[in-house]
Formats: sequence, C-alpha cells, structure tokens
Amino acid sequence: MTGSLILPHGGKLINRYIQKKSDDLLTFEVSSDIRNDAENIATGVFSPLAGFVGQEDFLNVLKEGRLSSGVPWTIPIVLDTEKQIAKQMEDLGDVILCSDGQKFGIFHVHEIYEYTKQDMANAVYGTTDTNHPGVSRLFKMKEFLVGGEVEVFQMKEYDEFQKFRMHPSDTRSEISKRGWKSIVGFQTRNVPHVAHEMLQKAALNIYDGLFLNPLIGKKKIGDFTDDLIISAYESLIDNYFPKNRVLFSTTHTSMRYAGPREAIHHAIMRKNFGCTHFIVGRDHAGVGNYYPPFAAQEIFQKYPDLGITPVIFPSFYFCKKCMSFANEKTCPHGIESKEELSGTMMRKMVNSGKIPEKHLMRPEIADLILKSEKPFVVE
Ligand code: ADX
Repeated sequence: MTGSLILPHGGKLINRYIQKKSDDLLTFEVSSDIRNDAENIATGVFSPLAGFVGQEDFLNVLKEGRLSSGVPWTIPIVLDTEKQIAKQMEDLGDVILCSDGQKFGIFHVHEIYEYTKQDMANAVYGTTDTNHPGVSRLFKMKEFLVGGEVEVFQMKEYDEFQKFRMHPSDTRSEISKRGWKSIVGFQTRNVPHVAHEMLQKAALNIYDGLFLNPLIGKKKIGDFTDDLIISAYESLIDNYFPKNRVLFSTTHTSMRYAGPREAIHHAIMRKNFGCTHFIVGRDHAGVGNYYPPFAAQEIFQKYPDLGITPVIFPSFYFCKKCMSFANEKTCPHGIESKEELSGTMMRKMVNSGKIPEKHLMRPEIADLILKSEKPFVVE
C-alpha cells in the first residue's frame, strides 16, 4: 500500500515474494548475505531492483552512481560465484537458491559476466586498500557475477529479531495508519550513545515520526553485535522516547562501510520503507579515516532527483560549558570544553573496561553492554 506516501524509488514497490516453489529445479547454495539481499529485492527494500544486477547496470552503477535507466543507485547488488557454477547456472536458466540448507528462492539467470575487483573497489569504496573491511570482503568474492531476477518463497526466520522485522509494505501501512506526513529515517550499526539520541530528537522536533532502523547483518570484527544493538534500542525507546512518535524496525543487509556511496544506498532503502527524510551525520557509514567526515553529506548534491531529503547534522559533542550536547552551529566554546563522541570511542571505552559516563551513554544501555556475554563481533 502506498496511498499518499512518498513513492518508492523508481516509482513502484517491488514485490517478488511468491507462495509456490518448484522443487524440480537444480539447487545452488549461496551465502546468508546473498540470501538477505535476495529477500531485500523480493520485499522491495531494494526497489526498483527486481534481481541481481546484470553487466550494463553494474558498469553504470560503478561509473555514474546510477542504474542504466538513470535512477540513482550507488552499491551494485550482485551475486558472485565460481566460473564453473556460473556457466552451469547460465545453461540451466532457472535455478533454486538455497542457504544454510534451506531452499528459499528461484533465480531466473539472464547473464553471467566477469568484473574487475580493483575497478569495483575504487568506484564503491574509493580505495583498493584491503585493510578497508568492505574492500577486503570484495577481494574475497568469486570471479563471476550472475545477473537475473529473483523470486523468494521462503523468508529467513529469526529467533529473537523476528518481531522487529518489517517489510516496506508493513512500514508504509503503519505510517499511513499513524497519519505521519513527514518521516525521518535513522540508519545505525551501533549501540546508541547520547549523541545519536540528540540527533534523533533534533529531527523529531521537526518531523512527524522517527523511523529507527538498525542494520542487522554482517559487520566488521569489533563492531557491536546485532543482539546488543537491538536490546539497547528497545531500552532506549522504552525509557527515553514517546513511543507514538517512533517506528522501530530492522533492515537485514551487510554493512559495506562505503561512506558516501553507502549513505545514498541507505537513504534509498529508507525511502522504500516510506521515509521522506534521512539523517546523515558525521562520517556516515565510514570506517577509519577513509572518508572526509562530511563526504557522505556532500554526495547528496549529486542526486537532486533522489526523492528523499537528507537531514544533515554537524558533529555533535558534549560541551562542558554549555552543559549539553552541542555542535559548532550552536556552541562558541573551544576544544578544551568538548567531549567528542562516536561509536568507535564507545567501543574502545568498553573494551578497556571503562563504563561510559551517563551523559555520554544512558545507564540502562551501559548496563546492557556490561552484562552482555558477546558485545562485539569476533569473526
Ligand atoms: S553508521 O555506520 O551507521 O553511520 P552510526 O550508527 O554510529 O554509524 O551512525 C548513525 C548515524 O549517526 C550516522 O548518520 C552518523 O553520521 C551519525 N552520527 C553518529 N555519531 C555522530 C556524532 N557524534 N555527531 C554527528 N553525527 C553522528
């Protein structure tokens, strides 16, 4: 249902979820990341994609940051495999996809093609340095890509996360039901610190609703685990937000750490969920020092036709003189009164056995971290 809501990216919400399954086709095993992306295609999170991209779209996305139709698209959604398997898939045409032993979808293979990893790394990540977690993953990909439409008949079931998962059709119905006209999306891969919350609340001063949408899926070693992120957000919303102004749901896809390009990708997904606006703060989807802190905001200037409006924020810090969260637009004080705050710093603090003070992290959330048996991704 779209009603009077913002149109999905490309104009139409893709729905490639099917009831039936053809068991007589040959089955191919893929990773759980590829399964996640097949599900995102099927449920419209990646609208207008109806499948894994073919070569023309792939090259256009790298070169122009757009699909060959001209629609903005910055991260190529690909299915990689070995040459021999790619050729077998091509010969068969229609095949069944399976992950962790469970058949989940039909892949209508259109084409197979080779690609240059260096070109992909430079275009998407702006570097070929394998210390970059996205580039390192890319260089481990198989040598062939397979393009074609997918249909999904079996969605992955999660134990504890299932209740938080909403598809774009669900979030759109919920937004309509709530009567929200302006909805601001918030992407995160972190346990929330108070600067995150201040950003969210600054936006909530202006827009009707806040869509809190952590990314669940593969992350780099040292990042907070999905379980902890979810329970921290449950606690944050319970204790610090008016519940009728917040919609909380998970998005299941891997973090790419592609900075500016990923910020556009993140915004597109949230547009498909029904958001009119999208928060982009400091070093969005960044890692290390690969991207200038505000590159992920600047890239939006290249996409006046994106169809979702970025809400850009300067770096938020705690100012000991203002006695509140502040930023250079609101605070005149010098470096000596600033307490900078980032996910990386929080993780470092916890790692060295320190409990972040309560003006930096809500005590309920610090407590959850301390009690967690597995706060960080280890592989
Ligand atoms: S991200 O990889 O998903 O971007 P994170 O979950 O830490 O990482 O950030 C979520 C959003 O909050 C991003 O838009 C990021 O730019 C923003 N953000 C995080 N910390 C700050 C801060 N101290 N000041 C401004 N923006 C911030």
